[in-house]
Amino acid sequence: MQAIITTDRKCHTESISLAKAVAEQLSIKYAERCKYSVPVLMEKHEAEVVLVAHPGELRLHTAAGELFFHPNMSQLRLKNLRQGDKDHMTEAMGLTEGMSVLDCTLGFGADAIVASFGVGEKGQVTGLEVSPYIAAVTGYGLQHFVPGNYPLFAAMRRIRVVNADYLDFLRQQPTGSFDVVYFDPMFRKPLTASSSISPLRGVADHRALSLAAVAEAKRVARRRVVMKEASGSGEFERLGFDIVTGGKYSKVHYGILPADR
Ligand SMILES: C[S@@+](CC[C@H](N)C(=O)[O-])C[C@H]1O[C@@H](n2cnc3c(N)ncnc32)[C@H](O)[C@@H]1O
Repeated sequence: MQAIITTDRKCHTESISLAKAVAEQLSIKYAERCKYSVPVLMEKHEAEVVLVAHPGELRLHTAAGELFFHPNMSQLRLKNLRQGDKDHMTEAMGLTEGMSVLDCTLGFGADAIVASFGVGEKGQVTGLEVSPYIAAVTGYGLQHFVPGNYPLFAAMRRIRVVNADYLDFLRQQPTGSFDVVYFDPMFRKPLTASSSISPLRGVADHRALSLAAVAEAKRVARRRVVMKEASGSGEFERLGFDIVTGGKYSKVHYGILPADR
């Protein structure tokens, strides 16, 4: 997938420095904005992905639209948790303070933020993302986005982002090195044709979770492996997740597998 990075239209000095640093980090071309629109830059450089550096923010453009980091849904979930409500994902993970979580499918980081809040300051969340472009946007957003409250800020800043394929990463981890290993793969049947997430579909990795990855996850997990999928998905049975939890009317459910120990 051919990608370039450019700056916002105003070509702020801060944006230029950020764009050049990310270009080097990802080994992609830095293209001067020169007042061109993103579609024109795409055509000029034959790029399918254009990263755009703004002061304090990285955005990602594809032919399907624009993507950027925002903690929207995690913000609401943290608010509910702080009010004492339950969260189906943290319940499925059995999260308590001080635990370590390996989120194998970071995406835009909403689940990782909720997990990071759940494990608190003494815990640790590592988020893996195979797309270098999504990893760059989310990694930068988690470290630079300034939310309205400290618990969300702290939960975001504590997450470690790694641009890696989960199977490769899992194979390199010692046995029992994370309390929980979590997967939220792209659903086999997307829940909605929502245009707001269609740009993600263009850059995300759509491969199904493999039995080999689940076996490695069971080895690496000290306590359990959790997978999110659409309610009623055949993936739970195919991958051996016998315990499935979630709200009665919820569109998503969580499969739980005990670790190999
Ligand atoms: C449904 S999204 C995850 C959404 C995320 N849980 C959130 O809260 O924003 C799935 C993500 O996993 C990534 N992914 C898929 N296969 C992967 C793999 N083998 N290794 C690492 N990341 C992968 C995709 O690129 C995509 O960004």
